[in-house]
Amino acid sequence: MDIIDKLYENKTLSDTELISLLTACDDTYLFEKAVTRRKEYYGDKVFIRGLIEISNYCKNNCLYCGIRKDNTFLSRYRLSCDDIMMCADQGYGLGFRTFVLQGGEDLHYSDDDICHIVYSIKNKFPDCAITLSIGEKPKESYKAYKDAGADRYLLRHETADSDHYSKLHPISMKLDIRKQCLWDLKELGYQVGSGFMVGSPYQTTENIVKDLRFLEELQPDMIGIGPFLPHCDTPFCNMEKGSLQLTLKLISILRLMFPYALIPSTTALATLSPTGRKDGILAGANVVMPNLSPNDVRKLYSLYNNKAYSGIEAAEAKDKLCKEIESIGYRVVTDIGNVNKKSAI
Ligand code: 5AD
Repeated sequence: MDIIDKLYENKTLSDTELISLLTACDDTYLFEKAVTRRKEYYGDKVFIRGLIEISNYCKNNCLYCGIRKDNTFLSRYRLSCDDIMMCADQGYGLGFRTFVLQGGEDLHYSDDDICHIVYSIKNKFPDCAITLSIGEKPKESYKAYKDAGADRYLLRHETADSDHYSKLHPISMKLDIRKQCLWDLKELGYQVGSGFMVGSPYQTTENIVKDLRFLEELQPDMIGIGPFLPHCDTPFCNMEKGSLQLTLKLISILRLMFPYALIPSTTALATLSPTGRKDGILAGANVVMPNLSPNDVRKLYSLYNNKAYSGIEAAEAKDKLCKEIESIGYRVVTDIGNVNKKSAI
């Protein structure tokens, strides 16, 4: 049996088979199978999430990231609870029913601040889901946010190989801590999202296999991947960017391994190629996350160079986004968009 059919049937492959699939040239059949599987679980639906980038302050120094602490060229901002409520108001009016609050690890916000923000949005919009993406925290903090009303948490593991992890992060950051956070979040009952960068410096095909194995262990509800893109004010300024083809291939592989997963077609993908957003959907992604942050701060949430933040990346342009999605045979829905663990057919 061809390995793509085997992956479709069994939802997993051996390491050798995964490596041969990852290094194969033609992905046409892989995309086809991924689309079939995605339709079984989610039909033609594409979920939208309103992304609110709450702060670009960060205590960390990840070597790839433009908002790393040592980037002194960046103007820093943080949104107040009122600012964030304004974004949510606008987003609700536009039809968003999930708000993703993402930020650097900004110690200025206390747990009470975060709980207050979460509670305020949930109180005003009880029919919405709140996703937090604010990094590594003690389990008690995660619990407090959950009790305040947070539903989901995104924390990419970045790479599941500890040697590779140490090449991307300062020594103070450890893969084991990252993994523990993800287990804590699961235990607390969050819908959990993880993921990794494609083509990050020093990444090998074996590393990617490890990423897939870790995800099999974690069984996350959401999986976010995007190409690595260099930022000029980081140590990885001159590193090669990740490949479009490999990112799309991995979206399809993820769809076949995790048929139920919520997989975004990411901003990094849209930044890498003008058709990246559409290509991601056509490879099996079923989520898009337009930017709902206040206009004047969008360019400051600069994870990598040339990050797309206007045009259909902007939440205000939702109509345009809907048209684009319709033009490829899918449909943007105003729906809370929880994970669907069972095939509809
Ligand atoms: N290129 C691509 N993705 C990046 N991220 C951070 N910096 C970069 C970069 N230079 C991703 C990380 C992080 C997510 C919020 O953005 O995977 O988890």
